[in-house]
Amino acid sequence: MEQQKLLELLGEMSLDEKIGQLFQGNGSFYEGDSIATGPASEQGFSEQTIREAGSVLSVVGAGNVKQIQKAHMEKHPHHIPLVFMADIINGYRTVFPIPLAQGAAFNPQVAKTGAQVAAKEASAAGVQVTFSPMVDLVRDARWGRVMESTGEDVYLNSVYAGALVEGYQGDDPKKPGKIGACVKHFAAYGAPTAGRDYNNVELSERTLRDDYLPAYEAALRAGALLVMTSFNTLNRIPSSANKWLMRQVLREEMGFKGTVISDWAAIEEIMYHGAAMDRKEAARLALEAGTDIDMMTTCYANYLKELIEEGKVDEKLLDEAVLRVLELKNKLGLFENPFKDADEEAEKELLLCADHREKAKEAAKETFVLLENNGILPLKKEEKVAFIGPYTEEKAIIGAWSIFAREEDAVSIEEGVTAYGGNAIFEKGCELISEGASIQGMNRLYTGTGMAENREKKLLKAVKAAKEADKVVLCIGEHMAQTGEAASRGDITIPENQITLLEKIAEVNQNIVVMLFSGRPLDLRKVKTLAKAILVVWMPGTEGGSAIAEVLYGETPPSGKLPMSFPYAVGQVPVFYSEFHTGRRMDPAHPENRFQSRYMDIPNEPLYPFGYGLSYTEFSYSVVTLSKTELIRGGELKASVLLKNVGKSRGSEVVQMYIRDDVGSVARPVRELKGFQKLWLNAGEEKEVSFTITEDMLKFHDINMNNIAEAGKFTVFIGSDSRTQNQAEFVLK
Ligand code: GLC
Repeated sequence: MEQQKLLELLGEMSLDEKIGQLFQGNGSFYEGDSIATGPASEQGFSEQTIREAGSVLSVVGAGNVKQIQKAHMEKHPHHIPLVFMADIINGYRTVFPIPLAQGAAFNPQVAKTGAQVAAKEASAAGVQVTFSPMVDLVRDARWGRVMESTGEDVYLNSVYAGALVEGYQGDDPKKPGKIGACVKHFAAYGAPTAGRDYNNVELSERTLRDDYLPAYEAALRAGALLVMTSFNTLNRIPSSANKWLMRQVLREEMGFKGTVISDWAAIEEIMYHGAAMDRKEAARLALEAGTDIDMMTTCYANYLKELIEEGKVDEKLLDEAVLRVLELKNKLGLFENPFKDADEEAEKELLLCADHREKAKEAAKETFVLLENNGILPLKKEEKVAFIGPYTEEKAIIGAWSIFAREEDAVSIEEGVTAYGGNAIFEKGCELISEGASIQGMNRLYTGTGMAENREKKLLKAVKAAKEADKVVLCIGEHMAQTGEAASRGDITIPENQITLLEKIAEVNQNIVVMLFSGRPLDLRKVKTLAKAILVVWMPGTEGGSAIAEVLYGETPPSGKLPMSFPYAVGQVPVFYSEFHTGRRMDPAHPENRFQSRYMDIPNEPLYPFGYGLSYTEFSYSVVTLSKTELIRGGELKASVLLKNVGKSRGSEVVQMYIRDDVGSVARPVRELKGFQKLWLNAGEEKEVSFTITEDMLKFHDINMNNIAEAGKFTVFIGSDSRTQNQAEFVLK
């Protein structure tokens, strides 16, 4: 529809109709089913609010969507279609690894492919917008939603943010098989005080701009149609009511002209934050801040009319917001085709089709991170291997946000290894959820299935299996429901019953590979003392078991690197590589010196650093060579290494380039990732790997908050992880 027609439509709409466009309910307001993905909000929704709503969330299924859309448009005074939105975070029915795992692949194509598959399946099921990508920078393993992010690094998150939006939207979200992307949660939701979800975020403007905003900007540059406001207060102002953040930063500086949607009940929560007297004031603050859609509360529906009639809110603000919602529908082609791609036949063909399963398996294989290996891996098919642990048969491996997928479709380790033809036996050894306990997941309750009286017998059976095996693969970790939204944890150690299992097995067989399932970094100190190999598989998705088999048996070597530091202990958190020197740098040669920046009881260094990961072969790096040692403004220089596979098998290496601004008008991080390249080399093969360094890469917000590159000396590091000391220096004039 032409823009002029949209304006005419807006002009014809009543005040009630316009306000209706800003309301988003879930399927519980319509026939058909829905999945409530947030706290139950007050149910004061009027019949008119529902009849004139502008969008709906968590309603899926081609038939369902078409039926609701048809009925809605018939009843609507101007027959304006709904927008159907849903949380498709790492897959719709065919589930890819969780985003944190995808970040570990250090290969944005993995994320782009996953988003493309998700868009094809979800759009056939009637979804028109996904509440993804979540690009919140995360540096606190206590926070459950780190699983939804691609990690602790500004550059890595930005690269992935763009790839995900391109995967969902393609070059035109109106096209078949594409869906609108909603980048979230704006802003800085990933830095809640104390790692506790929904908590206040205290950030300096410089840290916000240098570290937390770039990934959202990257998603907007890629064309994301929507932005979702975050639950948190940023420096004590709720995001949905934060005019500076939403109008100054998002719209003025970043130039975002699309639609802003609140997170679930976030407008009403302005009141609960204590930043509004009541829902009416919350509605005023949110609309003034530029929050267009009110997800799942009555603030806009019940109070905007009053506020406008009382002259407390300018109707122009309402018209702006409504026009952005109409423009969203127009960008999706809904005025011409309100059902978009909803198609029952396509649904049957696409969901879980072989091609999508294959893509999910290939993606999963790239996400696994090998943290230790004394040569015990890869396994040989003829070896007798005892797969032991609560994850051997577990199918809850698709990630907390895979709310439209079915765990039963997942390939467990037992199924994957058996299908692969491994000479394997399987014993659970202990429960993932203690007997009689339960964990409330995002949309279902998980209850322990074991019987306490069987605990000892189960353990003994596992120890016996270990004794009779050449090697043991211990499959352990946190439960999927212990990650995701509202899953903050103060204890990130491996559950005691799993450590006991490990210790008992180690008494009879030391050839132990620990395979870790998690949605966050965990404290692996105890595991490290007894494991000969550690493979982090995160939550690997629908094809987890088959991907694991192919990596364990060496068909595909592991190629992942950590997208988030694994702390030595939770006491270090938030811990991340791009930290600051401090005025009393820790002297590793003299850790005993008191007056330096250190802990008295634990090291400063994480157990495993950002960017770290092994493969089944070894690589050597030459020294860093520079095309020149002086970078002219507007110019560029090249930094290169010669990478060689000096091992005996083909493998992958993620060559990482970090840059340190040695002196700035403000303190600068010890180093920052500015480039990475993932290569596969055969044994003996070598390749020159070059990075182009530009002035843009060196920019930061200086003492005056100008985003510039300051003249001076820089150190460039190129190596295998964020600890590399392989370096060279250049100056910027
Ligand atoms: C949730 C989440 C958000 C999600 C929304 C809709 O509370 O914070 O990420 O998109 O509600 O389900």
